[in-house]
Amino acid sequence: MENKYEFIPMFKEEEILRRIKEVANQISLDYKGQNLHCICVLKGATIFMSQLLKNIKHDNLTIDYISVSSYGIGGRESSGVVKILKDIDSSIEGKNVLIVEDILDTGNTLDRLIAILATRNPNSIKMCTMLDKPSRRLKPIKPDYVGFTIDNVFVLGYGLDFDEYYRNLPYVAKAVEKGEEHE
Ligand code: PRP
Repeated sequence: MENKYEFIPMFKEEEILRRIKEVANQISLDYKGQNLHCICVLKGATIFMSQLLKNIKHDNLTIDYISVSSYGIGGRESSGVVKILKDIDSSIEGKNVLIVEDILDTGNTLDRLIAILATRNPNSIKMCTMLDKPSRRLKPIKPDYVGFTIDNVFVLGYGLDFDEYYRNLPYVAKAVEKGEEHE
């Protein structure tokens, strides 16, 4: 795959860390005096969520993890059918849920996830995504907290994969077919 694509850095680690701090500060302010239950959507959001958590100044904070499948195996397109592969471990009744995503694309995943979680009587549900691709949206989902808004490019790194690899890159890059024009 590296032969066919080249990876162009988009957001350096320092830039991501700086932005995460800003988002985390806003979250700390917004949830002041309330409980906050962060739910990480596996696997892509793990690195973003870890860094976000370290920067949120809040004592009444709990976390959980959920795994859903929306893309076919090896696929790059959301199928629109969202299945829960691993559910959260604890009740969200009365909790202020913050769903943490690495990327918001068509909105299919969050649309279904919110519908599922909303049946469990949380106090509120908000969404935080590291990357937002609004041009791809098929569902009317508007994230409450966004790291960076991006064009319709294929991105990887900082948790995001390319056929399951490159999640460990400490920065976000875009994959461009060799020979394709790019800035
Ligand atoms: C990615 C991402 C979101 C979803 C967004 O997950 O983490 O969950 O796709 O796409 P959508 O807005 O079009 O639904 P993916 O299925 O690639 O799993 P991963 O996080 O394990 O890489």
